[in-house]
Amino acid sequence: MKLKRGVALAAVVGVAMTLGACGSDSDSGSGGGSGEDAPQGAIGVILPDTESSVRWESADRPALEAAFEDAGVEYDIQNAEGSADRMATIADSMIANGATVLAIVNLDSDSGAAIQERAASQGVKTIDYDRLTLGGSADYYVSFDNTVVGELQGQGLADCLGDEDASLIYLNGSPTDNNATLFSEGAHSVLDEVSTYTNAGEQAVPDWDPDEAVTIFDQLYTQAGGDVDGVYAANDGLAGAAISILERNGRNGEVPVTGQDATVEGLQAILAGDQCMSVYKSANLEAGALADTAIALVNGEEAETNGETEDVDGDRQVPSVLLEPQSITTDNMQDVFDDGGQKVEDVCTGRYEAMCEDAGIS
Ligand code: BGC
Repeated sequence: MKLKRGVALAAVVGVAMTLGACGSDSDSGSGGGSGEDAPQGAIGVILPDTESSVRWESADRPALEAAFEDAGVEYDIQNAEGSADRMATIADSMIANGATVLAIVNLDSDSGAAIQERAASQGVKTIDYDRLTLGGSADYYVSFDNTVVGELQGQGLADCLGDEDASLIYLNGSPTDNNATLFSEGAHSVLDEVSTYTNAGEQAVPDWDPDEAVTIFDQLYTQAGGDVDGVYAANDGLAGAAISILERNGRNGEVPVTGQDATVEGLQAILAGDQCMSVYKSANLEAGALADTAIALVNGEEAETNGETEDVDGDRQVPSVLLEPQSITTDNMQDVFDDGGQKVEDVCTGRYEAMCEDAGIS
């Protein structure tokens, strides 16, 4: 269902008054959306949590705010704090407050699909942001090419290890996150091809929880009798967990570990030689793509896409914007700073200052 122009304009007025009052963890703005060409509705975005990666609050939220402010569109960004029930409640309240487009980073496909179904039944368009909701009904999917993310991780680990015999442990992301499946598949597609590598253990980390990852990696390491030469860790949080156990065993720095998100801690671990690589996925690019897609929908237009993504559960192709991720090592870390992905002063502090200098980072 499309809102008629007049109805949408009326909604915008209502939204301007109500969207600001959505709780302490919400952020909303108006950005001066008036005039003929101004977007004609409001956009709700629900981020998943604050624990699985620092990216959601430290990178995505500010990038989304900037993109929506630039476009002068009404928006409300909230965080479900790891609770699917909370995400559903937030979605309902955003729709009640006048959101006509809803973007979610699902916490699992079933709860995401239920939110999207309820939204669609009220004429609200939905977008999957970063994670595809399997069996969902999102109108669009905005993300990076997540199989390529996994391939970059696999290649990064292989580059650090060389083709000597190596026994690997895989610390995968949450089993409820379709991205984690794609990352792992991408990594395996590279690493399984190297005949000198063996798999010494593999486990998924529920909810990407770094604390649980410490326990899981400790067990995998012990089960392997410490015979571990390389670690596939699906993001920087899980990498940090693995590194803490390697450190406890006096092995950090000699066992390469992969990561993802180019977080402050991840970049510092790369500089220190404890982590072999990370994957940079520009929040500005992803947030900008989400803003473009959402604004098109708010205006009742079709959004621009560059491909389709198969939803294997829903047996459908979801129109998608898929961006290119970048592999990061010390050699090209400057790119992250130049792109505004991190600030030099946040990473190059304390003992990392000299390491940054050695790496030519400025
Ligand atoms: C995202 C990663 C993130 C992970 C944990 C994935 O879906 O693509 O960037 O590290 O979730 O939040």
